[in-house]
Amino acid sequence: MNTPSAPLPGGTWPLGDLPVSRFGYGAMQLAGPGVTGPPADHEGALAVLREAVDLGVTHVDTADAYGPHVTNRLIREALHPYPDSLRLVTKVGATRDAAGGWPPARRPEELRRAVRENLENLGLDALDVVNLRLGDAAGPVPGSLAEAFGALVELQRQGLVRHLGVSNATPEQVAEARSIAPIVCVQNMYNLAHRQDDALIDELAGQGIAYVPFFPLGGFSPLQSSALTAVAARLGGTPMSVALAWLLQRSPNILLIPGTSSVAHLRENVAGAGLRLSADDLAELDGIGR
Ligand SMILES: NC(=O)c1ccc[n+]([C@@H]2O[C@H](COP(=O)([O-])OP(=O)(O)OC[C@H]3O[C@@H](n4cnc5c(N)ncnc54)[C@H](OP(=O)(O)O)[C@@H]3O)[C@@H](O)[C@H]2O)c1
Repeated sequence: MNTPSAPLPGGTWPLGDLPVSRFGYGAMQLAGPGVTGPPADHEGALAVLREAVDLGVTHVDTADAYGPHVTNRLIREALHPYPDSLRLVTKVGATRDAAGGWPPARRPEELRRAVRENLENLGLDALDVVNLRLGDAAGPVPGSLAEAFGALVELQRQGLVRHLGVSNATPEQVAEARSIAPIVCVQNMYNLAHRQDDALIDELAGQGIAYVPFFPLGGFSPLQSSALTAVAARLGGTPMSVALAWLLQRSPNILLIPGTSSVAHLRENVAGAGLRLSADDLAELDGIGR
């Protein structure tokens, strides 16, 4: 693998004792349609992962539910033996059904199995970070996470997991997790148009905990807004790169995990995320989510 030629936009952030590039990569889009089955272009998927690492990405987000098992095996095939600096962040708490749904799998024995399968498919002895994925496809659902999170804390004690996080969580669930054991990240849906976690992001920044927005580009419904297009045109960037630059400037604890199955899009996103947004640009963009 090459030595990256320029630092990635945003610098680095510590996930506990593990520093990562704030510009990371989300692997979900590498599985087949509906996040089910293999990719149409196997070699292309491997190329995207290798390019991310060559560009200096040291944070790859994944889950064994993607495929299922598909993205973890692609990551292993593309990148194992892993560079010392690379951190693989996975999530447990949901499985897949025959219809492509994401039923919860948060009983302690299901979580133990999920951690074992992540270790096996990624080819690791310990997982860097495991997020407990809560809620459902519509978003967070209130309720205690104590039993499920406690099972992960036990796996951490056994040395199978280095750090813990929560995903698709309410602020109350984040607080409950933190009352049980330290967490290094919260992974929730957030982007220019979905600002429901603004207060949580600021609170976590004060505690040194990362906030990792999923669907940073809008996910399956890419962000579209006349303000975004106008700012992008003014700065000579793409709307996607402005959306990423905005997240990097929103708070220092925000880590990017944009997904793409295209090497060209990956390069374009890395190049564009370093755009400097002026106070006027920020004011115009802030209007999108309010
Ligand atoms: N915790 C959870 O419950 C949860 C839920 C969903 C996702 N996630 C994580 O979050 C990561 C990011 O989410 P995501 O990938 O679903 O959504 P996303 O990053 O918001 O958007 C990905 C989409 O944007 C497109 N895209 C990327 N760069 C582009 C560019 N320069 N120009 C045009 N289109 C571009 C991609 O298409 P191309 O492939 O054509 O580039 C893809 O369809 C996932 O990979 C996953 O790791 C977590």
